[in-house]
Amino acid sequence: MVKLDPWGSAQVKSYKKLMKEFGIQPFSEILNKLDDPHPYMKRGIIYGHRDFGRVAEAMKKHEKFAMMTGFMPSGKAHLGHRMLMDQIVWYQKKRALVYVCIADVEAYTVRRISRKDCLKFGMDYLAYLAAMGLDATKAVLYFQSGKDGKYHAFSKLAARKVTFNELEAIYGSLTPGKIVSALTQVADILLPQLEHGAMPTVVPVGSDQDPHMRLTRDIAARTKAEYGFILPSSTYHKFQTGLDGGKMSSSKPSSFIALDEDEKSIKKKVMNAVTGGRITLEEQKKLGGNPDVCTVFELFAYHVEKNDKELNRIYDECKAGKRLCGPCKKECAEKLAAMLKDLNEKKEVEKERIKEFVVLPDGA
Ligand code: TRP
Ligand code: SF4
Repeated sequence: MVKLDPWGSAQVKSYKKLMKEFGIQPFSEILNKLDDPHPYMKRGIIYGHRDFGRVAEAMKKHEKFAMMTGFMPSGKAHLGHRMLMDQIVWYQKKRALVYVCIADVEAYTVRRISRKDCLKFGMDYLAYLAAMGLDATKAVLYFQSGKDGKYHAFSKLAARKVTFNELEAIYGSLTPGKIVSALTQVADILLPQLEHGAMPTVVPVGSDQDPHMRLTRDIAARTKAEYGFILPSSTYHKFQTGLDGGKMSSSKPSSFIALDEDEKSIKKKVMNAVTGGRITLEEQKKLGGNPDVCTVFELFAYHVEKNDKELNRIYDECKAGKRLCGPCKKECAEKLAAMLKDLNEKKEVEKERIKEFVVLPDGA
């Protein structure tokens, strides 16, 4: 059995198995319903969905829809966060009503992050999000502990609609903090509809968040008579492999690249990254490399190469033995460093600007 724990380790061995077990649909099936899909959708990085059809339809017909997602403020911003930010900005350009929450209730109660650090990390993520191109004046950006009214009321009233056994079946062992966090996330996901009435809502997340989607959809169905919710939709993205070939983890600095990483360190990490290259140069030229298991190719696909044709060229050149790992890593590192330098310059400006558009945590 595949286990998904939103508070555990997030490594997935087989996406196929996971989709089968939980009834997540393949994204490829629905790709042709979009006029201009996000590169992650075309590249198979966004691999699955629930009920995305109604969101695709709203996009096509220019009807209103919302995008809601959240960040756990548990550490430094890194490329994993950037990947979600990229999707958020894309949805806003596609005219979604954008809601982004900083899950400080969850980080404090479940991850035991101090209130001060929740604020620091959370504001940092939001500044990067604005630097990526989000128009903060048109989005709802909030910390869970600071949002008022309907939202907190709903997160409590929702408790009536689920049994302890159901929660245990979804999440495994529970703590009071986990129960509060789960019900808070239900209110997050339904917030656009609580504030603006029924509309299709898409929640782009990693697979580890699917338990929250299932709970939210159950509660949305059970409160339909009272609130009239449309069941929220979701998309699921794959996680990037750690640069050392293992799991990308904030406790292993060699596995990830932070968004404020300096150029020297970026270059060092990329030059040391695990590739799909052969042992000798001769072999590489003769047999070609394997971009499918290469963390450097992943960097191109997730972050560095926006153009699909160029990405395909890198892929083909690698397979044909026309691309060698040394220069390939160097190219990747240089482009990534330039991109992050630009991002950090923009972030410095946004840091001050966004403050007035964020619903801050209680007491801040
Ligand atoms: N639980 C999410 C995480 O660990 C953060 C989160 C909070 C969230 N509320 C959300 C994600 C609503 C999507 C939608 O990253
Ligand atoms: Fe990876 Fe580039 Fe080497 Fe191919 S050439 S295996 S893409 S580093």
